[in-house]
Amino acid sequence: MAAMSDVKLSRHPFAPEVLSEPWDFYAEVHRTAPVFRVPGTPITYVAGYDELVDVLGRVEDFSNDFGGILSGRRAQDPEVKAILDTGWPAVDTLLTADPPVHTRFRKLVNLAFSMKRVDAIEHRIREITVRLIEDMLARADRGEVVDFVADFAIPLPVAVIAGEIGMDSTTDVATVKRWSDAFADRLGQMISREREIECAREVVEFQHHAKTLIDARRAQPTDDLLNDLVYASVDGEKPLDDAEIMSILQQLMVAGNETTTSTLAGGLLLLIQNPDQLAKVRADRRLIPNMVEEMLRLESPTSGLWRVVKRDTTVGGVEVKAGTMLMARFAAANRDPRRFPDPDRFDVARPNARTHLAFGRGIHMCVGNMLSRRELVVAFEELLDRVAEFALAPGARLEWKPNMLLRGLSALPVVLKRAVKAAA
Ligand code: HEM
Repeated sequence: MAAMSDVKLSRHPFAPEVLSEPWDFYAEVHRTAPVFRVPGTPITYVAGYDELVDVLGRVEDFSNDFGGILSGRRAQDPEVKAILDTGWPAVDTLLTADPPVHTRFRKLVNLAFSMKRVDAIEHRIREITVRLIEDMLARADRGEVVDFVADFAIPLPVAVIAGEIGMDSTTDVATVKRWSDAFADRLGQMISREREIECAREVVEFQHHAKTLIDARRAQPTDDLLNDLVYASVDGEKPLDDAEIMSILQQLMVAGNETTTSTLAGGLLLLIQNPDQLAKVRADRRLIPNMVEEMLRLESPTSGLWRVVKRDTTVGGVEVKAGTMLMARFAAANRDPRRFPDPDRFDVARPNARTHLAFGRGIHMCVGNMLSRRELVVAFEELLDRVAEFALAPGARLEWKPNMLLRGLSALPVVLKRAVKAAA
């Protein structure tokens, strides 16, 4: 493999136009350099599937402890610090922790995020899904265009997680979304000082609200995920304290909401753009779970995440130095032609779709993957049942939010036609 300085790429990987439409760029790196150094930076970019699997398995070489590095500069800002001091301390729990700290949190959170819990939530997911679809169809019946992002893809995951952390009766979905956006903005690094201050206020407001919910469960157990977090206990492990639970809740909201929203919206767009695949899945509903995997592969809403290199080593033959950053590019690996032939094609029956890396792999593999998969399957089952036709609204312009780590549509204006049997 060529040393990285020898590789000339036609565009910068973090240029705004590449972040919103990266597919040609990914094809180029798969042809030329599945691992390369980002020009002018000490960042190593890992795009190849096998190379990324290798990185995700080597926790002793590549650390997830990037939270402090990302927030270091702003944490010094006295105004932000003064606001955050009125709340609870930030704790590196899952995403930004390494073993053995990560191991303890992950064991406890796994207890709360079991398949049993996901099964128990399914009826709520379906109720919320049906209500949102029927609201959209009522407007479509009146000839209105609906925005699938605002009217369905945002409220579904937000309402599901809000319910599971006991917020639906005491807070509205818009408040939960406001908090969740603030956590995501802080992690995304691309915000002004004013927004950073606003986000710090949102974090503290959320923490005080969360404290009342945690105390309520300590006083009287309930049947939800927050309750399971409060009471989670594994032999020999200290149960979670308030600050730890708050940090986990924040991660669930950041990691779970925007990503599921983006898969729902990007997935519907794929069906609209590929009528042959839509017809295929309508003809055989057993394809829905595999179709969802294929949507996750192609959308990969968590486009990439950071690792900190702990010691000098190599990845795919490229040298990487201790103390530098590595970009684990899940979205690029999911289009690696060595793994997925004809990688840009949406194929609802692709035999190995489920081997995608959209949820990562290894010890940090997405803790919410079962919940998210269930939401996506239920959503598309009900959409296919209740909506006879989906089309882009005339003149609709599609835009993706600018973000180095997360990719998703900002709006998806659609025209829907009600299926006759659902109207009966
Ligand atoms: C389509 C939806 C989703 C996608 C694409 C996604 C993607 C990911 C990825 C790629 C990772 C691995 C991070 C790493 O390797 O550093 C991850 C971890 C995580 N995800 Fe998700 N996620 C989704 C939904 C959810 C949901 C619904 C939740 C919870 C409600 C959630 C909570 C988390 C948490 C807490 C972690 C950190 C786990 C750990 O470090 O042990 N995610 N997710």
